[in-house]
Amino acid sequence: MAQEDVFKKIVSHCKEYGFVFPSSDIYDGLGAVYDYGQNGVELKNNIKQYWWQSMVLLHENIVGIDAAIFMHPTTWKASGHVDAFNDPLIDNRDSKKRYRADVLIEDQLAKYDEKIDKEVQKAAKRFGDSFDEAQFRATNARVLETAAKRDALHERFAKALNDVNLEELRQIILDEEIVCPISGTRNWTEVRQFNLMFSTEVGSTADGASKIYLRPETAQGIFVNYLNVQKTGRMKLPFGIAQIGKAFRNEIVARQFIFRMREFEQMEMQFFVKPGTELDWFPQWKKTRMAWHQALGFGAENYRFHDHDKLAHYANAATDIEFKMPFGFKEVEGIHSRTNFDLSQHAKYSGKKVEYFDPETNESFTPYVIETSIGVDRMFLSVMCHSYEEQQLENGETRVVLHLPAALAPVKLAVLPLVKKDGLPEKAQEIINDLRFHFNCKYEEKDSIGKRYRRQDAIGTPFCVTVDHDTLQDNMVTLRYRDTMEQRRVPISELRSLIEDQVTITSLLKKLI
Ligand code: GAP
Repeated sequence: MAQEDVFKKIVSHCKEYGFVFPSSDIYDGLGAVYDYGQNGVELKNNIKQYWWQSMVLLHENIVGIDAAIFMHPTTWKASGHVDAFNDPLIDNRDSKKRYRADVLIEDQLAKYDEKIDKEVQKAAKRFGDSFDEAQFRATNARVLETAAKRDALHERFAKALNDVNLEELRQIILDEEIVCPISGTRNWTEVRQFNLMFSTEVGSTADGASKIYLRPETAQGIFVNYLNVQKTGRMKLPFGIAQIGKAFRNEIVARQFIFRMREFEQMEMQFFVKPGTELDWFPQWKKTRMAWHQALGFGAENYRFHDHDKLAHYANAATDIEFKMPFGFKEVEGIHSRTNFDLSQHAKYSGKKVEYFDPETNESFTPYVIETSIGVDRMFLSVMCHSYEEQQLENGETRVVLHLPAALAPVKLAVLPLVKKDGLPEKAQEIINDLRFHFNCKYEEKDSIGKRYRRQDAIGTPFCVTVDHDTLQDNMVTLRYRDTMEQRRVPISELRSLIEDQVTITSLLKKLI
């Protein structure tokens, strides 16, 4: 099945099984805004808990905060967002549709890559087992020609972005003969900058009201609280402040479901270090964060680092952790060495001294910062994409199963009475009443056992138990494993010990130390 079709299926699966709904669905939705349903919110909370505990529980020198979404408007002047948090936009005069100029060019780059991949796939089919992909990529004339075009485009594009050269971005679109996907024409306007921050007003009267912004990143809430936390927590360098919260960006090109949203959630940690040590900490945080991702067991081959060639003026190192989504390797997390830019800017704009006094050297200085910043929704999407499978069974049937890591699954155990009578529902409820304090259990009695198993597979429940007539005599149940569909009889008294270790966030955290 084409990857595009797989992705469409994942999106509809998310809706059908209560993971993600379009926002205000009964009014036909709101672009790039989504609601999490009854299963989605559990999965999302588990992801957040995994991140939070990996930061705050596993590091004695990292503490958390929860800053407000609204911040003093000068914050955004100091951080540079008012002046420079822009996307380059271009309109097609015929379709009246608006696009991000950089995204149109990125799509064109992806087309070159697709062309190369197709050549490779064709050749792999032709040559069978004897096919040497690396050699083919290095020597085939058509592949080399396409790769050269892609590399030249990439270089030109990077330079235009670096120089903030809007005319050049437009010229690239014209030279590459990029057409509007709706009108099919090349009737493009000039490229203009568009600020991504949403603004609103505080204060009740037009005269007294002042313009404020919905935060476009949670990080600034940490920077402006640096002094509060350092002083009240008597924190010594190096130390970190972690935060999970909503962020808002007026994304013009809403695409790929919850990959690019207007309202989304970030999990950010700023790690404050002594100046001059930041480039020692940077690779350590790269390693720590990659280990966090890979502990989920999705396979190392599905992740890669993308080091930035183009650095923001305040950064001295930056990388993305990319995950292989059905639409290619995409950024899920950014790790940035942000120097002392943000703290210095807030010192300048607030007039306050935002420094650290080192009792060992009797010196004051502005700490440097390593930032790790991951989107909860993108993480959610990567988990869904990797877990979704349409499995052909030996009996000819198909089952849709979500192979969610057990610790992230919304429901850990479903308890199913074989029939709705003879005391079986009561026995099932008894089991739930005992286990619900330890992990999330669900009772289901409607439909055949087979159908109930399928429903649990589709929401990723790692364990089901069936209560039958024998259970009333021998206190044993049938335990069924989601991934293997293996079933075995086990005593009710052993259920907790059989399941608990595998479904807690602790089971994931233990892989990190
Ligand atoms: N404080 C740094 C910062 O905000 P960023 O690369 O703009 O850096 C960090 O964002 C992460 O936030 C991204 O790696 C991504 O996971 C998530 N993110 C950014 N924009 C998003 C959007 N429009 N929708 C969903 N997630 C987004």
